[in-house]
Amino acid sequence: MTILVVGATGATGQLLVEQLLNRGHKVKVIVRSPEKLVKAVANNDNLALISANLLELSDSEMIKYTNKCDAVVSCLGHNLNLKGIYGQPHKLVRDATHRLCNAIKANNSGKSTKYILMNTTGNSNRDLNEPISFGEKCVIGLIRLLLPPHVDNEMAADYLRTNIGQKDPMVEWVAVRPDNLVNEENVTKYQVHPSPIRSAIFNAGQTSRINVGHFMADLITEENVWNKWKGQMPVIYNVASM
Ligand SMILES: NC(=O)c1ccc[n+]([C@@H]2O[C@H](COP(=O)([O-])OP(=O)(O)OC[C@H]3O[C@@H](n4cnc5c(N)ncnc54)[C@H](OP(=O)(O)O)[C@@H]3O)[C@@H](O)[C@H]2O)c1
Repeated sequence: MTILVVGATGATGQLLVEQLLNRGHKVKVIVRSPEKLVKAVANNDNLALISANLLELSDSEMIKYTNKCDAVVSCLGHNLNLKGIYGQPHKLVRDATHRLCNAIKANNSGKSTKYILMNTTGNSNRDLNEPISFGEKCVIGLIRLLLPPHVDNEMAADYLRTNIGQKDPMVEWVAVRPDNLVNEENVTKYQVHPSPIRSAIFNAGQTSRINVGHFMADLITEENVWNKWKGQMPVIYNVASM
């Protein structure tokens, strides 16, 4: 398979790329800081490195880079500093998702391409009736006001849910929702649920980035896993944190 990963220099993106390469797939990455890629990944013959600022690419470049990809994954996230949180681009994840999906459609490859979005348990799947307490609603309202990246994450998932929807012939999607992200060396046991089973605000569990990468790699390569979760926003928890 050929997979395009954006956000590939990130803490989760790197682990996903490594696992896809270990499974023998070809991976394309569009990165603005190639020096951040670990050597084992950067020097892998199956890695195609495109050095560019994603949202500065033209539409025709996006079309070229998504051409013949079986899957496109966004592990994008705003850098956790003042510029990343409050500076441009405010809608990094939403705009990347929108433009990459448009590019997939423009390629008109005759088969559907998988789009996987890294999202968050702080966002609800509004296709389902996910219960949220009054206290959680208040805190999420505050987060929306104070932390623009949260709104960006919500808008990216909403774009997939409402603009791409469940029946698009070109794009099938999954928005993966990890709980509190932690770093671990190895893949461990994890559980995947259609909706949160604990409060993301008042009782968050943990999800290791390497487990997120493993689940995303399974979504791409295992048809039964894809068919189980396509068009949904699965929540992933480390078993050890439950
Ligand atoms: N922290 C948590 O507990 C938690 C929980 C659930 C979900 N999440 C979500 O998970 C996602 C990824 O998390 P992570 O920790 O793996 O992220 P990360 O390490 O911060 O990686 C973010 C990636 O996005 C890229 N990026 C940032 N700004 C960009 C821009 N303007 N243009 C192009 N690329 C840009 C970064 O590129 P550079 O390397 O060039 O900066 C990097 O590759 C985020 O959306 C976050 O909201 C976080």
